[in-house]
Amino acid sequence: MATPSRSAKRVLGKGAHIVTLTLSPALDIATQVPRLCPDAKLRCSAPSYAAGGGGINVARAIHLLGGNALALFPAGGSSGRHLIELLDAEGVPNRPLAIANGTRECFNVVEQASGRQYRLVMPGALLSPVEQEQLLASLEALPALDYLVISGSLPAGLAADFLPRVLQGARRRGARCLIDSSAAALRQALAVGGVLMIKPNLSELSALVGEEISEPQQLARIAQGLVRDGQCETVLVSLGAAGALLASDGLSERIAAPSVPRRSTVGAGDSLVAGITLKLAAGAGWREAARFGVAAGSAAIMSEGSALCRRSDTERLYAWLQAYGGS
Ligand SMILES: Nc1ncnc2c1ncn2[C@@H]1O[C@H](COP(=O)(O)OP(=O)(O)OP(=O)(O)O)[C@@H](O)[C@H]1O
Ligand SMILES: [Mg+2]
Repeated sequence: MATPSRSAKRVLGKGAHIVTLTLSPALDIATQVPRLCPDAKLRCSAPSYAAGGGGINVARAIHLLGGNALALFPAGGSSGRHLIELLDAEGVPNRPLAIANGTRECFNVVEQASGRQYRLVMPGALLSPVEQEQLLASLEALPALDYLVISGSLPAGLAADFLPRVLQGARRRGARCLIDSSAAALRQALAVGGVLMIKPNLSELSALVGEEISEPQQLARIAQGLVRDGQCETVLVSLGAAGALLASDGLSERIAAPSVPRRSTVGAGDSLVAGITLKLAAGAGWREAARFGVAAGSAAIMSEGSALCRRSDTERLYAWLQAYGGS
């Protein structure tokens, strides 16, 4: 059954109730090797551990930005316990669902000779049909839900109606849903309708619409088309160093990312989604929320390793974007 952690109550009592759902959480392990080569034993530096997976990172980034979000996720085995301990130590409210399979471990290896990063991503732990029902029940049982952020990949074997049921349940309660996942998951979500925002990057959007996207006008037309068809209120396409395209109800706007020192791209997309959600939950409109999101995404780029956006960097970049950022 769902077991609320010590900090779970803190978020439910104040402000807008933001919940993130992560179906493939991960224990992220970061290390370095002098040089990657086959066959030889590769002596790594002492590893560092971080709680990972899309929605978990969004909740961590919201916490770093001074907000509150409850992370809901399945967790199993010693890696699952470790992940929960890490979230508790950071003060991120969390509600794990105990499952039989062990939480996956993912590796981020930096080769010191080249500075290259290798990200080894394991498949998410399988969820039994009973565990899937328990996860749905623990969502239903939340006393309050204003914003639901579904982020990260879906594990194999998830029931075809799982995501639609999550979205229908959230919609019945009047919650606003934001989704950052694979093209297949986005397609399912759009078929249900009533989604507040999807956040594909360019390749996810291409896969979603089955069209190579190479022209800015083509990108704007496709994003606007999804909004016009009523499949979701807003499409926010993240464009890496080029920033983002915001398409919402007659509005189509490129937000240029500020130029920042590039240390690590880990968590940029999750920080972007965290920034947008937090601003929307505070009552801001789309233009303001998207700028704050881009600022948070770019702030994540400035942080080393798997660190997410720092609040001070985000606020500074946001002020810059408010003054000069636009298409
Ligand atoms: N090189 C960069 N310089 C400045 N900002 C950047 C850079 N790369 C990414 N960003 C910021 O991060 C945001 C999200 O980046 P991106 O489009 O790469 O997301 P993503 O593909 O979802 O990434 P992820 O690998 O985290 O899933 C961008 O909208 C931008 O604000
Ligand atoms: Mg992404």
